[in-house]
Amino acid sequence: MIADLAVPVIVAPMAGGPSTPELVAGAVEAGAFAFLAAGYLTADALRGQIEATRARTDKPFGVNLFVPGTESTADLAPYRDLVAGEAARLGIEPGAPTWDDDHFAAKLDVVLDAAVPVVSFTFGAPDVARLKAAGVYTVATVTTPAEARAARDFDALCVQGGAAGAHRGSFANEIHLYDLLPLLSLVAAETDQPLIATGGLMHGADVAAVLAAGAVAAQLGTAFLRCPEAGTQPAHRAALAAGERDTVVTRAFSGRPARGMANRFIEEYGPHAPAAYPEIHHLTRPVRAAAAKAGDPEAMALWAGQGYPLARELPVAELVEVLAGELDEAVRKLESVRARRGRSPR
Ligand SMILES: Cc1cc2nc3c(=O)[nH]c(=O)nc-3n(C[C@H](O)[C@H](O)[C@H](O)COP(=O)(O)O)c2cc1C
Repeated sequence: MIADLAVPVIVAPMAGGPSTPELVAGAVEAGAFAFLAAGYLTADALRGQIEATRARTDKPFGVNLFVPGTESTADLAPYRDLVAGEAARLGIEPGAPTWDDDHFAAKLDVVLDAAVPVVSFTFGAPDVARLKAAGVYTVATVTTPAEARAARDFDALCVQGGAAGAHRGSFANEIHLYDLLPLLSLVAAETDQPLIATGGLMHGADVAAVLAAGAVAAQLGTAFLRCPEAGTQPAHRAALAAGERDTVVTRAFSGRPARGMANRFIEEYGPHAPAAYPEIHHLTRPVRAAAAKAGDPEAMALWAGQGYPLARELPVAELVEVLAGELDEAVRKLESVRARRGRSPR
């Protein structure tokens, strides 16, 4: 299903709003593949999204789950006080920095019960024996060769390079920023598992590049954030369209490394943010929500991969078609390279 797509493009799961049933259904109807994002949702909300997507398409799609980690032992009080100051500025209370497992077990039951054919995981490589026994195709997100080695039980690997938007999929709360092509080559040298390449891919030529490097498909997130079907916040869309900010990797919003556009919140609080996920995610959630509501790009998470200024404002089906056309064009260019060599004297 993943290895023989009509268009070898996968619309990334994008938790926190951007992933919608409309985006996923539009992508799979256009010949690509797509994941719903289960992260932060309750089990019931996930079930609702699966049903809403199935109401729009008969084609298969996947679901992505966040793998729970362990509760932080760090002293969160100093960061809570900093965020409380920001919350006061917005006239709200900060959230409670509590740990939870993101309803992981209940959501696994939902994907099994709903017979979702492809399930991908982020932040770890859990035991997937139950899913595999049920015939589910399993994908682990990896950011280093060592993580790839720890994910041998999975049917495929989603290899995430350092340019990727939003959270690093790393198993531990650490910052690993391998460039995508060297990481793909290193992982491909060690395993025959099908590889999905992700991170900074914006154009059909980028898809051609990772296919040439051995991937079976390219997973794009940021490229789809400006689609009208995506649930991207208006202030986030405006910042993507402006294309003026650099991107940085920060723990400021969630306590886990993630790439977004630089803003005041990251600059002021990022250096102080503890490695505590999801505690810091819960702490800053009301601040991010209030800033988004007020249209204030300086205190919300403007997740974006490094290539974000190239994101296009197109309906998802049209964007999939444009990417497929660009991929064909890139393949033609490569074929002309071969033809040139064929003509040259030996
Ligand atoms: C707004 C946003 C939210 C994301 N949420 C998730 C998620 O819930 N699960 C996941 O595995 N990856 C998530 N990602 C990362 C993507 O899977 C992928 O690695 C990334 O988008 C690739 O880089 P790109 O954004 O440059 O295409 C998210 C990315 C973005 C931009």
